[in-house]
Amino acid sequence: MEGAVSSSVATRQETLVRGSAVDRIAVVTGGNKGIGFEVCRQLASSGVTVVLTARDETRGAEAVYKLTGLGLPDVIFHQLDVTDALSISRLAGFLKNRFGRLDILVNNAAIGAVELVDEPSFGRPQPTVEKFIDMDGHERVEWMWQNCRQTYAAAKQGLQTNFDGVKHITEALLPLLLSSSDGRIVNVTSGFGLLRFFRSDELKQELDVDNLDEERLDELLDAFLKDFEAGAVEARGWPAEFSAYKVAKAAMNASSRVMARRHPALRVNCADPGYVRTDMTRNSGLLAPEEGGATVVAVALLPERGPTGAFFDAGGGKETSFV
Ligand SMILES: NC(=O)c1ccc[n+]([C@@H]2O[C@H](COP(=O)([O-])OP(=O)(O)OC[C@H]3O[C@@H](n4cnc5c(N)ncnc54)[C@H](OP(=O)(O)O)[C@@H]3O)[C@@H](O)[C@H]2O)c1
Repeated sequence: MEGAVSSSVATRQETLVRGSAVDRIAVVTGGNKGIGFEVCRQLASSGVTVVLTARDETRGAEAVYKLTGLGLPDVIFHQLDVTDALSISRLAGFLKNRFGRLDILVNNAAIGAVELVDEPSFGRPQPTVEKFIDMDGHERVEWMWQNCRQTYAAAKQGLQTNFDGVKHITEALLPLLLSSSDGRIVNVTSGFGLLRFFRSDELKQELDVDNLDEERLDELLDAFLKDFEAGAVEARGWPAEFSAYKVAKAAMNASSRVMARRHPALRVNCADPGYVRTDMTRNSGLLAPEEGGATVVAVALLPERGPTGAFFDAGGGKETSFV
């Protein structure tokens, strides 16, 4: 559905935009739940007009309804599946017609890139928070690892969503971001995207150097999938556990740095929300979604002319290394 604006907020949106009351406009991908929902809530609470996007219209409209109920009417819904070119171009067209610019893009949507054992959609509920109460962070990650399976299909889908999806939506919205006087991109990354998980020094160096470009990144990801299919992930020095997720996030980090250099007028940064209790972690995280979302929002709202091409750590958003 083109321009799927929640009817309850549409009139108010029209007034806001036409009356030029709109201050900053943000798009959040995967805004219907988890960290993305929190990012929408906190940005809207800070006075930003938020376009909450979700691949599923019902789930997205419900999230907007929830935010409206919390006294945040300046949230618009638009459908977006980051793996669907038509969906991306519809969102870009909607934003161009409605606002003519974009100030903040939060690339949050992602998947775990593994198959879950006891997949909840097969009839089992997600574990509750209580299940993990006596476990430390390492034990929780180990539980996650024991309860998933790395498959080629999930790895491929992971790269398509977590890397290609970010790349395609960013490319489509770039002209609108460049039309802003203070365009920002926040790529929601992970500690799992750090280069320390790569055992090959050559790969580490490639992903950490200044002369990397998009073409080379695509070649590296193709090579990863080939190695995955051949059962050679460890032998080639790729991260062994949660491989595709780690590779996709590391590649997204590298591409953020490339983009930051190419577009000095923009602020392009990566924000790690930390280990958060969401569906992705099956509620095993150490932090509440509010806490994870706060790091992302802090980076999105950094003062003007702040850092670009940087990695911000969980828990307060301290600038740190990609390695
Ligand atoms: N949770 C953590 O501990 C943690 C740690 C570090 C980084 N992160 C990062 O934080 C971000 C949010 O994760 P989360 O924990 O909040 O996960 P989540 O609760 O599973 O939410 C993921 C969101 O992404 C959406 N999504 C998935 N595929 C999509 C697609 N093709 N197009 C559009 N939307 C899509 C999901 O939509 P549906 O509802 O339709 O599935 C959902 O809204 C991700 O980038 C993740 O890598 C999370």
